[in-house]
Amino acid sequence: MSLSVSIGSLTLKNPVILASGTCSPDLQKFTDLSKLGAVVTKSVTLNPRTGNPPPRTVETPCGMLNSIGLENPGVEKFKKEVLPDYIKYADKVICSVSGELLYEYAEVVKRLNDTDISAFEINVSCPNVERGGIEFGKDEKMVHQITKSIKSATKKPIIIKLSPNVSDIENIAKAAESGGADGISLINTLYGMAIDINTKKPKLGNITGGLSGPCIKPIALYYVYKVAKVVKMPVIGIGGIMNTEDAIEFFIAGAAAIEIGTANFVNPNTGIEIVKGLAKYNNEP
Ligand SMILES: Cc1cc2nc3c(=O)[nH]c(=O)nc-3n(C[C@H](O)[C@H](O)[C@H](O)COP(=O)(O)O)c2cc1C
Repeated sequence: MSLSVSIGSLTLKNPVILASGTCSPDLQKFTDLSKLGAVVTKSVTLNPRTGNPPPRTVETPCGMLNSIGLENPGVEKFKKEVLPDYIKYADKVICSVSGELLYEYAEVVKRLNDTDISAFEINVSCPNVERGGIEFGKDEKMVHQITKSIKSATKKPIIIKLSPNVSDIENIAKAAESGGADGISLINTLYGMAIDINTKKPKLGNITGGLSGPCIKPIALYYVYKVAKVVKMPVIGIGGIMNTEDAIEFFIAGAAAIEIGTANFVNPNTGIEIVKGLAKYNNEP
């Protein structure tokens, strides 16, 4: 049985995607990115961003906190120096786009229209930046407006990535759909923090960060289940997926595809193992 899946005009050979911020092209040294459905790039912004002060990651029980703060070289350098390696190794590249101001999203997309990127994932859900990110993703009118402006800036499919740190995720998903989104992905990380009791100081340089990994899986699954019931477009499930069984739970909850994040730091072959596991599960009577 074929594992292939379509999101708008984008067809993936299998539904296993590596999540933004967790898979640089360097991962090719440890796994074969071409065997996956797609790889999502680290979020790119119009101008370069230096990111947040260190430490930027902390391990937590069953997960991790990060406060990278969308460090990236800006769209022009990304296009020349980073994107070619993603294109070289991955079967399909989905480019994650973020912005501090509304117009920046469409501007980044326009500048990448002439590349071999297969689709855009719009990050309106980063909890680790002062401006933009989740501030846009909390508001359904804003999500609708951003989606519409990006849709008119590109012919490539667009996926809107949602945050769990909101009060009404279903209406936000519907706002993305009515704005013209081809798919929806969820969830980005949850707000979190950790404190060193010896120094009495936060463990992250940015004080707070985003929680990911197996500890967020039940929450992610819940949101996927809720959102899949109210939209017609494909839903991509993200959050704590470590193995095939986790992935299958997301499909049963209503996901059409899945993304793997934190697991890439533990075992860079997780994606390939899940592709094989899904093929086996599909062929079992
Ligand atoms: C170190 C790190 C960096 C991340 N950077 C981004 C990013 O740039 N853009 C984005 O949309 N999500 C980013 N994320 C969120 C992941 O793509 C994913 O949504 C989240 O980690 C939940 O999935 P997981 O539990 O499988 O890790 C990042 C996550 C981690 C752990």
